[in-house]
Amino acid sequence: GATVPLAGKIVAISAGGTREPLDPVRYLGNRSSGRQGIALAKAALAAGATVRFIAAHMDVPAPAGVELSTASTARQLQVAVTEAARGADALIMSAAVADFRPAEYVDSKIKKSDDHADPVITLVRNPDILATLVADRTAAGSAGELPPLIVGFAAETGDAEAGVLEYGAAKLKRKGCEMLVVNEVGENLTFGTDENSVTILFADGAAAVHASGSKDEVAASVIDAVGRALAPARR
Ligand code: C5P
Repeated sequence: GATVPLAGKIVAISAGGTREPLDPVRYLGNRSSGRQGIALAKAALAAGATVRFIAAHMDVPAPAGVELSTASTARQLQVAVTEAARGADALIMSAAVADFRPAEYVDSKIKKSDDHADPVITLVRNPDILATLVADRTAAGSAGELPPLIVGFAAETGDAEAGVLEYGAAKLKRKGCEMLVVNEVGENLTFGTDENSVTILFADGAAAVHASGSKDEVAASVIDAVGRALAPARR
């Protein structure tokens, strides 16, 4: 029925920001609060889905009613997301995953050196969780286990709306997922706030959908698009 478009469906949602440790007391992190992921989980639950919620670091607790798993670093999140994605109908990657991590972890607190030399932190690339899942899905043998619908988020900084969307379209192609939710971020935009403004892009060429308002309103639009994409009529 129209009120439970995701009844019987399993939706995996990642949320929050990863942290990459430098030493026992320091990490590289980001401003993701987890709020958009929580709003997505609530909307998916309201639509009748079973929700597997993979939480990285969040400012607010995970919502009630989800199957919860947690992760701290990008590599831990990759393990948890891959497990949650198996057998799910859709995966929504709203987590802000660190693209880089310190090349080495120092297991005691890094000290100021006596010669006043500036410390240098070397970074190495983290795996791209989303792109890896898309690639694994296409590889022989795993078809049917990984979600047919994978939704990415793209947080872009920039002020020219057109440029942001062009970049989003290129990213959708590059990542190979079915949907990409593009939003503009900055210190005072999106991260940590309750408002959001996004454009949902579709790999199948369907017209882009704009949604703005509270993170709950944006989540409702994303979950609506997920419901329509999973509806038998479209397959
Ligand atoms: O390339 P970019 O980081 O902008 O892509 C954002 C999307 O890719 C988000 O859905 C994010 O969760 C996902 N991502 C990922 N693994 C990374 C970086 C981003 O799955 N290492």
